[in-house]
Amino acid sequence: MKRIGLIGFGTVGSGVYERLNQSKEEIHQVLGEKVEVAAILVKDRQKKRTVHVDALVTTNWEQFLEAGPYDLVFEAIGGIEPALTYTKYWLEKGIPVITANKKLVAEKGEYLEKAAQVNSTYYGYEAAVAGGIPIINALKGTLATTAISRVSGILNGTTNYMLTEMIEKNRSFADVLIEAQQLGYAEADPTDDLEGYDAWYKIRILSRLCFGYWPQAEDFSKKGVSAMMDWHVEVGERIGFKIKLIAEAWLGDKNVAGRVSPAFLTQTEPLTSVRGVTNGISLEGNSINQLLFIGPGAGKEATANSMVEDLIFHERTKNFKKAEGRNASYGNETFTHSFVF
Ligand code: NDP
Ligand code: HSE
Repeated sequence: MKRIGLIGFGTVGSGVYERLNQSKEEIHQVLGEKVEVAAILVKDRQKKRTVHVDALVTTNWEQFLEAGPYDLVFEAIGGIEPALTYTKYWLEKGIPVITANKKLVAEKGEYLEKAAQVNSTYYGYEAAVAGGIPIINALKGTLATTAISRVSGILNGTTNYMLTEMIEKNRSFADVLIEAQQLGYAEADPTDDLEGYDAWYKIRILSRLCFGYWPQAEDFSKKGVSAMMDWHVEVGERIGFKIKLIAEAWLGDKNVAGRVSPAFLTQTEPLTSVRGVTNGISLEGNSINQLLFIGPGAGKEATANSMVEDLIFHERTKNFKKAEGRNASYGNETFTHSFVF
């Protein structure tokens, strides 16, 4: 029996709990062992929970520790602290941690990956980028030696959903934002979605995997949809362009650089067709030309699916050496869509 500790029981954490329960038999078959959530750590004792839980639910860290030992911990609370302290605690004990927290991974991933390596364990962050699209473990696994010159994509589901609804259904920004929050797509602080931080964290994480090292935050510029005016959308539509929030990175002469910005896309650019909460990622390289990944970018089921599959990925590959670097090739700023803001 594999005992699981779950930190956070909001949109993502409750989804992980449900997915583990629904897939009990398949997981048992694949791993040869059952999994069970032993305890859940939350913040607000008074909160009404809609998901039925058999495990201990506590707001007390000491009580959560006592309910261990755990074979693996899922972190789904978000932000830097206390997520960093908790993640460090488990990794230093050699316990694998799987997270959806892109902010923590982008800002502290280098340190936490090293902590995992030193303690012969795993820090998994498949769900931190593009919700349900299995891009992280594809880059670590079947694409581990593929040279990549450029990565670009629509990495924020909330703003892509908002832009789609506003343009196609003529809905207001405020209305669609409230809906995206109700649907569980938006961050606890939606400023992260609207000002481009969320996509900025994600493109830096993708860069680490595409180019083999953690890039410097200052080499990535950032503008969110908050920089857009109504007339941008109107003019874009009139001349046949679609506005999307694009995140991109390339290996330049000296180092990896990138940006997040609203951009006008031509009708022939593949990312133009990515609508709603869907995300799209394009990888370019000499041997692959262009690979496209399209799928759900946020939401409970898709994100929980990625976290659970990350557990399976780890269990099935834990005896393999994980790729550290990558045979990168030079790319440049030129992109296929028309122009950024
Ligand atoms: P929610 O706000 O829905 O849930 C957060 C959970 O964390 C809540 O259960 C909350 O407890 C708990 N929590 C917060 N602070 C603490 C703390 N100090 N100690 C213990 N528990 C705490 O967020 P989401 O589930 O949407 O997001 C979680 C993470 O997943 C974030 O990093 C987010 O960026 C990421 N993510 C989210 C996606 C989505 O579609 N929503 C998709 C991909 C990644 P309580 O319930 O008591 O309030
Ligand atoms: N707020 C994020 C988004 C959640 O909308 O893409 C998924 O990471």
